[in-house]
Amino acid sequence: TQSLKLAVIPGDGIGTEVTAEALKVLEVVMPADVKFEPTRYDLGAERYLATGEVLPDSVLEEIRQHDVILLGAVGGKPNDPNLPPGILERGLLLRLRFELDHYVNLRPSRIFPGSVSPLANPGEVDFVVVREGTEGPYTGNGGALRVGTPQEVATEVSVNTAFGVERVVRDAFARAQRRPRKKLTLVHKTNVLVNAGSVWWRLFQEVAAEYPEVSTDYMHIDAAMIFMTTDPARFDVIVTDNLFGDIITDLAAAVTGGIGLAASGNVNPDRTAPSMFEPVHGSAPDIAGQQKADPTAAILSVSLMLDHLGLTEAAQKVEAAVIADLASREPGAALSTPEIGDRIAARVAG
Ligand code: NAD
Ligand code: IPM
Ligand code: MN
Repeated sequence: TQSLKLAVIPGDGIGTEVTAEALKVLEVVMPADVKFEPTRYDLGAERYLATGEVLPDSVLEEIRQHDVILLGAVGGKPNDPNLPPGILERGLLLRLRFELDHYVNLRPSRIFPGSVSPLANPGEVDFVVVREGTEGPYTGNGGALRVGTPQEVATEVSVNTAFGVERVVRDAFARAQRRPRKKLTLVHKTNVLVNAGSVWWRLFQEVAAEYPEVSTDYMHIDAAMIFMTTDPARFDVIVTDNLFGDIITDLAAAVTGGIGLAASGNVNPDRTAPSMFEPVHGSAPDIAGQQKADPTAAILSVSLMLDHLGLTEAAQKVEAAVIADLASREPGAALSTPEIGDRIAARVAG
């Protein structure tokens, strides 16, 4: 029997609600010879407000000893005076992504037969965004001068290293090579962000030379948003920086059936630390505590996690159950979070 150590960080708001359903599905999909040993870590707004702790070093080191991490979402009530903006986002979520070297933030988007796209005629949409996960404007480089005065100057410096860009671009090419359409689009803003743009452009061209079978395309981020809404079917693999990738993937979720379906993996492809799987969405304070959130994104994140662990059959079972469930959802029917979890778990159980 194979035993896998799973760190579970349900987090805040709907994060805890959707994670419960994801674990429900994980429980029923496991083959008899694989055992998950989950450890739950209560991190997030509640812990911070009670103790001032965000992610103690000792907890980070414990989490690092796991095979894989499942996360719900973090983020407290908006404008809570006791919870400064970014404390949890930077101190918990981004710290995990950076410390565990999650340089590939994988965010697939597909229109399943049962997805309700707001587009009249989206076509066959099946693409994956490879979002850089450890650099860009997310690194916290920058500062503020003369804070609070009319002369205030604030900067957020985008960090783009040749090492960091090349490794994510390589991953995206390898991924495109494995897909039937073998197409990779670089999305950036090389016409304005010329320093960062030139390193992305140069390394994209260099690695492209090693992948003659992969067809390449380039779009500026603004134009990419046009195509994401008018013709999302044109995309196969997209590679982009951390901030563009964040924004693109919320739009991608919206056009392919909603943020409640969008799954993601924060992947360390070198396997020097555990990868982390989580829905693209946040803690949704506007609907938290009402069991209204769609847990499908969290459940599809479990499928990505199983795939990452080489448990391909189990991964496919979960995905197939989600697809079947989506196809059977009555339009307009408001299912609760546990109802959706139960339906998918029941399908997985067969
Ligand atoms: P959000 O994704 O939490 O919510 C945006 C909108 O989508 C809301 O109207 C919400 O109700 C809806 N929504 C989100 N998930 C849904 C689901 N599963 N089913 C149905 N509706 C869903 O984004 P936000 O409001 O910008 O952020 C709220 C908090 O979450 C902030 O503190 C933010 O920093 C944090 N956040 C965390 C993560 C993460 O932990 N990975 C991701 C995004 C945002
Ligand atoms: C996401 C979130 C995070 C991001 C925030 C909460 C730090 O929006 O996972 O998409 O910007 O990466
Ligand atoms: Mn986001």
